[in-house]
Amino acid sequence: MDTNKIIIILEGISFAYRGSSLIFDRFDFEFKQGDRIGLIGPNGSGKTTLFHIMIGLLKPMWGSVTAFGKTRIKEIDFREMRKDIGLLFQDADDQLFCPTATEDIAFGPLNLGKSHDEVREIVEHTLEILELKGF
Ligand SMILES: Nc1ncnc2c1ncn2[C@@H]1O[C@H](COP(=O)(O)OP(=O)(O)OP(=O)(O)O)[C@@H](O)[C@H]1O
Ligand SMILES: [Mg+2]
Repeated sequence: MDTNKIIIILEGISFAYRGSSLIFDRFDFEFKQGDRIGLIGPNGSGKTTLFHIMIGLLKPMWGSVTAFGKTRIKEIDFREMRKDIGLLFQDADDQLFCPTATEDIAFGPLNLGKSHDEVREIVEHTLEILELKGF
């Protein structure tokens, strides 16, 4: 495996929530292929905010996000990269909101534009490997 390939670079990121002081002030970060990074910080220090900036759920006030060699600015840029980079929300209830496991599993692939046949296959396979059949 090529361990030097850069996957994500954040450069000079500054960010504040509306009406609050800066959480990030010209922050730089680099994630290379093969890296396993544990992000440690006190409650409210900005870990979740950082991940949300990284995948485009929050837009930085300054600075840039580059993923797979392409600077990501608009929602459409991030949408493309989210096919390959997933985020698990801190609170599972934020992403499991369907009445059945089947619908929850299908939600992601359907929104990625997969066909109904492909989605059916993904759902079957996922239910199988997670031993969730019948839920
Ligand atoms: N939607 C929001 N609007 C305004 N302020 C916010 C919002 N979300 C988070 N904050 C504030 O931004 C700061 C960083 O929060 P964040 O959730 O990124 O921290 P965290 O490191 O993930 O915390 P935790 O360890 O509790 O998960 C905190 O002061 C928090 O109160
Ligand atoms: Mg958090």
